[in-house]
Amino acid sequence: MHNDIREVLYSEQQIQEKVKEMGEMISRDFEGRNPLVICVLKGAFIFMADLVKQIAVPLEIDFMAVSSYGVSTKSSGVVKIIKDLDVPVEGRNVLIIEDIIDSGLTLSYLIDVLERRNARSVTVAALFDKPARRTAELDADYKGFVLPDEFVVGYGLDYAEKYRNLPYIGILKPEIYTK
Ligand code: PRP
Ligand code: MN
Ligand code: MG
Repeated sequence: MHNDIREVLYSEQQIQEKVKEMGEMISRDFEGRNPLVICVLKGAFIFMADLVKQIAVPLEIDFMAVSSYGVSTKSSGVVKIIKDLDVPVEGRNVLIIEDIIDSGLTLSYLIDVLERRNARSVTVAALFDKPARRTAELDADYKGFVLPDEFVVGYGLDYAEKYRNLPYIGILKPEIYTK
């Protein structure tokens, strides 16, 4: 375990099993619908890479980069599109891939953008959910794990751009972000 981690919440193996289950459900639901799978950078890149390998229907992939957090652990309340999609979403069955839903601000903004661009359907798969922190009314269609209200990192999630590469999700030691 990384020295800055207080406790592992879900191991690499537990995550991989969950991702497989989610991929199987998505495969059933998206048969014949040619989904446009959108990875929300940066946090969702690892989940996205693992999840699409478990989806057994033809699909297309695109990326969007948005940011609502700076280096702080608190949301600034502002969502910014840093990189937009390369393809139009009009008429498409869009599947948004997120690592975590916290306040819900990022996703509610994204869903709104994609609906205004006339996507045929907008569906959300999020590996982690922190319902305690929700301010926007919103829930994922496919959800992995519910997390306690702790500062978590790993499996794509960062603190000040670090720890994204950890293969598990864990609670960061408080002394790391309070110093
Ligand atoms: C994190 C995370 C989600 C979002 C969740 O992204 O990856 O996208 O915050 O928080 P919310 O529900 O309160 O909006 P972040 O903005 O830190 O960018 P990153 O993915 O590049 O780390
Ligand atoms: Mn993110
Ligand atoms: Mg972040």
